[in-house]
Amino acid sequence: MSAALPRRDFLTGVFGSVLAAGIAVPMRSRAADLTLKKAAQTHELFWGAAVQHMELARDATFADLVAEQCAVIVPEWEMKWAAIEKHRGKPNFAQADAIVRFASEHGLKLRGHTLIWHRSIPEWAKDILGQPGGWDAVATHIAAMLHRYGDSRFIHWDVLNEVIEPNDGRDDGLRASPFLKAFGPDYIPLSLTLAREAAPGMRLYINEYGVDYDGSVERARRAALLRLVDTLKTEKVPLDGIGIQGHLRLDGSPFSETALSTFLRDLASHGVRITITELDVREGDLKMPLNIRDTRVADEVRRYLDVALQEPAVEGIVSWGLSDRYSWRTTPALRQQGLVNRGLPFDDALRPKAVTKAIVAALERRRPG
Ligand code: G3I
Repeated sequence: MSAALPRRDFLTGVFGSVLAAGIAVPMRSRAADLTLKKAAQTHELFWGAAVQHMELARDATFADLVAEQCAVIVPEWEMKWAAIEKHRGKPNFAQADAIVRFASEHGLKLRGHTLIWHRSIPEWAKDILGQPGGWDAVATHIAAMLHRYGDSRFIHWDVLNEVIEPNDGRDDGLRASPFLKAFGPDYIPLSLTLAREAAPGMRLYINEYGVDYDGSVERARRAALLRLVDTLKTEKVPLDGIGIQGHLRLDGSPFSETALSTFLRDLASHGVRITITELDVREGDLKMPLNIRDTRVADEVRRYLDVALQEPAVEGIVSWGLSDRYSWRTTPALRQQGLVNRGLPFDDALRPKAVTKAIVAALERRRPG
């Protein structure tokens, strides 16, 4: 399919045609305005995307696409501790508030991301975590964020991000992060308990990466995450969901449908919901013809979603960005070469691609819950 199809024709085409990307798509008299948002909602899912406040403020056509295609948005970095509280005791919510305002103005919900993450600790906090009163700073941050952003505008909060790291050599597979070094493994249940107290109605998540493929590292990560969830749920620690980031890659990594579906089923058996929280694809050869590149991205996402969406506990999908125009995957080095990673639902001209069709088709194939 040409990548040049304008968005509206594309979506009509998908549901006006019998065959799309080799997949039988039922003939439907769908309105031409079918969107990822509606395709997901039809199957009791939500579609969302990570966004940055300046993208929404400076790029009206992109902001329109976000409002049209997403039911949920996630601040890509604006709600992280290092961005909020550069100076101790002086949190600055302005950039985060801008995204919340956009969501409210467009009738969108939000996912909060993320309260506790080893890669977003304010410089001043790094120095005191291990000191007396260090935990007070963490607890104050959790309370401040959830008192401001812990209401019904938000469907979930990623309380903890990327707490698993088997390569750190611990028997429990936990990351030897500054939080763990300062407070021991209990920082995890303590954070979740504080979050529940601060926002009793909020769905509290732990968000993890690297559990999608079937290499030895991913298997160790899945096992460690399952052990953590089992321990937390056995000890009745408040935990409502697990975010599976879903950063896919075209490097030939081994992938096992059975391993992934078993993992998701085992997670769900502990009574947690699941969200695919950061879906995107890191391409391999960015100099191949666009149609080949786009087909490879579409096939990788289709293979993944065809497994993930068959798990009834999966409640939504968030792509880590909505358009290749704004993707963390397009590094400055790539841009200097005039290259763009094409791993998101819409291209850098905000047009749909083969992957958009693959996502809609995968949503269509989801069995009723
Ligand atoms: O330009 C802003 C500046 O105005 C602002 O004051 C400052 C505040 O820290 O940030 C500056 O921009 C950078 C921002 O990306 C926008 O490009 C930040 O320096 C930089 O830290 C931030 O990186 C983000 C990174 O997480 C760290 O927060 C990436 O955008 C974001 O894609 C990435 O997302 C993570 C998920 O949270 C967790 N999973 C992995 C994923 C990719 O690393």
